[in-house]
Amino acid sequence: MTTSPTLGPDLVQGFPFPFPTDQYRYSTNVEPARGVVGTPVGQWGDAVVDIDSEYLHELAERARILERDPSRATALGHMGPACWDTMLTLMRELATSRPDVMSLVRDGEQHVWTNRLLGIEQRFTYADDSTLPTDPLRYIASQVQEDLVLLDQRDDDLWGDAGVVTFAADWSFGFDVGMTFLEIHGPVPRLRETGVITRARDFLMRLQPGQPYRRTNWTLTIGRRLDVSTEIYHEWGPDRPRILTVSDDDFGREVHLRTEVQHLIRLEESGAVLFLIRTYLLPLEVLATIEPWRARTAAVLADLPDDMADYKGIATFRDRAVEWLHSRGARETPRDA
Ligand code: HEM
Repeated sequence: MTTSPTLGPDLVQGFPFPFPTDQYRYSTNVEPARGVVGTPVGQWGDAVVDIDSEYLHELAERARILERDPSRATALGHMGPACWDTMLTLMRELATSRPDVMSLVRDGEQHVWTNRLLGIEQRFTYADDSTLPTDPLRYIASQVQEDLVLLDQRDDDLWGDAGVVTFAADWSFGFDVGMTFLEIHGPVPRLRETGVITRARDFLMRLQPGQPYRRTNWTLTIGRRLDVSTEIYHEWGPDRPRILTVSDDDFGREVHLRTEVQHLIRLEESGAVLFLIRTYLLPLEVLATIEPWRARTAAVLADLPDDMADYKGIATFRDRAVEWLHSRGARETPRDA
């Protein structure tokens, strides 16, 4: 296994490879959180909030995006309690998964939050915004690599009423905010007619506190670009035709398998559903060195129906990706073996 010089080894060993079989179709693919998944090179899945060697880099990237475009962080007026609930829930998760550097201690009416990775020690009073440097949702979003969306449950439905989303894969949180769960999924082909998305909504409406679930989603992204949101399509859209013109080596370096590990958590106090989206990027040139991943990814991409490839925005270059992955397999197999 080789790693590109800029890619920390943990990003390969902890990569959540998203394909359990050679065929990918949409399904209500949820499973209980925290289950550890072994891979040919390591494992993933033990933490709900995952910190890796990109922590500081990704937080800096989030801060830069929010500075440039504040619409990526929005909370409708009634979501205050859910935002505080989110902050405290994530602080507890962080303190559990990284007790070496994070802690949350109760001190009478106050809490003391310590995050040694960022040199933070913050005393605050729950539900009192004036005791934090910014609102609770932005505050915690500046300390986790996950994007956050909060769903309010009312009138027998789920509404995406708050969030901080800086790393959206070809959608816009600013556009979606205030929509129902089904409206948010409106652009996705097949979801309504297969019943996948109504089953997912029923599942989410029954979700219980203390029983987090997770699912994965995936696509291909050109470059190590976390922010491929609709808002800045003009910056990354031209990469799709351009990638057909680059050399084979550059193709493998530039095209990344992008996995999202998404956690679904019913918040205890407010009753809102917290949706966490954590994005991982692995270049094909590294993926192809792990034979089961190379073969599986080639099979999934070759089989993917056109409407799904179109929706994922990979229709123009998926054939080349399949050929590229096949060529890397052939190169490693001796001709006369
Ligand atoms: C069990 C729960 C869920 C299931 C089964 C599900 C399923 C899906 C699927 C299959 C896609 C298409 C992905 C692709 O081909 O790349 C999608 C996209 C998306 N999902 Fe979900 N999802 C779930 C939960 C959520 C939640 C809680 C939110 C938060 C509001 C959400 C927001 C989105 C958004 C914004 C998109 C992109 C839609 C667009 O193109 O505008 N999903 N989802």
